[in-house]
Amino acid sequence: MWFEVFHNKNFFLSGEHFIYWVGFQPRYIIRDPEQGKELLSTKSGHFKKVSIRPDIKDLLGIGLVTLDGEEWARHRRIVNPAFFVDKLKAMVPTMSDLTIELMEKWEPHVKEKEAINVAEEFQKLGADIIAHTAFGSSFAEGKMVFDLQHELHMLASKLGSTIYIPGSQYFPSRENLYRKSINKKIEKVLGQLIENRMESGEATEGDGYGNDLLGLMLAANQGVMNGNMKGLSMGLHELIDECKTFFFAGHETTASLITFMFLLLATHPEWQERLREEVLEACRDKRIPTADSLNNMKLVNMVIYETLRLYPPAILVMRETDSDLKLRDKVIPAGTVIVVPIIAWHHYERFWEMEVKEFHPERFEEGILKACKVPGAYLPFSFGPRNCIGQVFATIEAKVVLATVLQRYRFRMSPHYVHAPTVALTLKPEFGMPIVFEEIFEP
Ligand code: HEM
Repeated sequence: MWFEVFHNKNFFLSGEHFIYWVGFQPRYIIRDPEQGKELLSTKSGHFKKVSIRPDIKDLLGIGLVTLDGEEWARHRRIVNPAFFVDKLKAMVPTMSDLTIELMEKWEPHVKEKEAINVAEEFQKLGADIIAHTAFGSSFAEGKMVFDLQHELHMLASKLGSTIYIPGSQYFPSRENLYRKSINKKIEKVLGQLIENRMESGEATEGDGYGNDLLGLMLAANQGVMNGNMKGLSMGLHELIDECKTFFFAGHETTASLITFMFLLLATHPEWQERLREEVLEACRDKRIPTADSLNNMKLVNMVIYETLRLYPPAILVMRETDSDLKLRDKVIPAGTVIVVPIIAWHHYERFWEMEVKEFHPERFEEGILKACKVPGAYLPFSFGPRNCIGQVFATIEAKVVLATVLQRYRFRMSPHYVHAPTVALTLKPEFGMPIVFEEIFEP
């Protein structure tokens, strides 16, 4: 089929679309947001997630990110309540406490005017935040699991740039044995943690599983079991995999957003000052952000949107087809991987109202629809039924971290910073992000 398409000049010579091959697999890059809407929304049921090589699957688990069809719908229904806004707002104090703790560790460097590599620091903070908010009182075990998962992540980043040989995951190589032993440990700790929580929950009235992501997910699962949809509940292994998903999907992505936001504010001091004023006004004399004060941070929101436009942590999404399908007027042959190049769409001049290469948060002053010339061109969290379940979580975390730091420090880039965004599963600065902080003294 691709042979025929390849010889149909109209397909390629429009200048809008192109394909490339990864081995024998054709990948079709779409540049039309209307096609994107069909792919991710109106016709999403006809497309599936791209199969992941088995040696990387250990990292993700078989959870929301990787499942398809009815299995995906069942998981999404159970995990959804854990991400309701009112539940997430309750996590604001934890997020700000952990940010304050981190700033206390920075103190000696700040005094010496030494640069701090915030890329690394915000990764650690992100891991602490997700461990606390996902596992609450069982934080220590959660943190241990996430440290192990971080090791798997590093391994997966390396594997991502190598060619997969089918069956190679079974070779008793050093990497494979190491990966398997880490995975075994993770599953043991998470399994124990979930079982303990379920036992303690049964002994309590109401949704006694706790207000963290795990507790909320267990309560929703219990609700399904108690109702007449018992067969649709999740078993222990599925719950373990969803916990792994929280970390994989939520940790590096949010750290990437916060890191690039600091880059943009360190290089645009006028915006840093405007945001500081807004945050001080919103938090008043409390000096720490609360769930309510976050609602009064419009400029902060605009800067978050603009950061996600310029530096989207997930640079693309991909789907696959099992049969020949049409996306608008184009027939996509079975077996093709379709790529929505998020980062490219965010930088196409014809999609945007203002200069695309520059940092212009004001483009979002009247919302996303007014910022884009072409609806659907802005999709840092994807869209449609499989959009990011954690987008509110990520935005709250970014706001809390920024609002907490802005009230205490003024900051600028170190002259040693080298601008080299790179992709290792998510977008990150290849050589770190050294920033110099200066304490703001009370007037
Ligand atoms: C700035 C931070 C984040 C960005 C840019 C981001 C981006 C995305 C994108 C683009 C997708 C769609 C992937 C696809 O369809 O292939 C996605 C899905 C997902 N994200 Fe996020 N994400 C972020 C934070 C989070 C957080 C904090 C969590 C959880 C704690 C999370 C959990 C998920 C899950 C579970 C999915 C799969 C949803 C489904 O298929 O039903 N994400 N994310």
